[in-house]
Amino acid sequence: MIAFFAAEPEEAEALREALAAREALEAPFPLHRGEGLLVAETGVGKVAAAMAVAHVLTRFRPSESFFLGVAGALDPSLRALDLLLAERAVQWDVDLTPFGRAPGETALGVRFFPSDPGLLKRAERAARALGLPARRGVVATGDRFLAERKEAERLRALHGADAVEMEGAAALMVAYRFRHPMALVRAVTDGAGEGATGDFQAFLKAASRRLGLLARALVE
Ligand code: ADE
Repeated sequence: MIAFFAAEPEEAEALREALAAREALEAPFPLHRGEGLLVAETGVGKVAAAMAVAHVLTRFRPSESFFLGVAGALDPSLRALDLLLAERAVQWDVDLTPFGRAPGETALGVRFFPSDPGLLKRAERAARALGLPARRGVVATGDRFLAERKEAERLRALHGADAVEMEGAAALMVAYRFRHPMALVRAVTDGAGEGATGDFQAFLKAASRRLGLLARALVE
């Protein structure tokens, strides 16, 4: 069984529609089953994402999973609705630098949590087959909606990150601890600068629909 995770109601709804996941299951968050697949609506932020991923992996033991959702672009060459295939993700708000660790490095000694390379390649092929603009890159994750150009530039410089969001590195950290193959794919809604909240709202539905198309291609 393959599990799909998305944080926001709009994102998860698009996945449920695209994947015909209609059977509601008992869980501390919206969780639906389709044929050979699950769609989990984790809620926003690192704690919510980590809790939902751990629950689904423990209770349902999927063979692989994808975390899909929207992101703010840190790389100014990314356009609205472009797909970013995350090779790895870092928690930009983890700071153990007083102990000599690198910025974002967890106490596990891991700074960047990787997507499963085989699953990422599958997502890349699916995006190409659908004719969707997609490229590989690095995601920065933190419990803050970024709407400040200066801070966006700082994160890009510090971590080499191409996009920012609020769940990916936490989900990949749980997958890493469970030795579970997961890939993270994001669709751009905004530029994480001063107009980010308006752009986020303007592009959330279209970006979610695009991720639904990708999800369907991944199971076909
Ligand atoms: N998700 C989409 N846009 C975002 C932003 N600017 N900051 C954090 N998460 C986001």
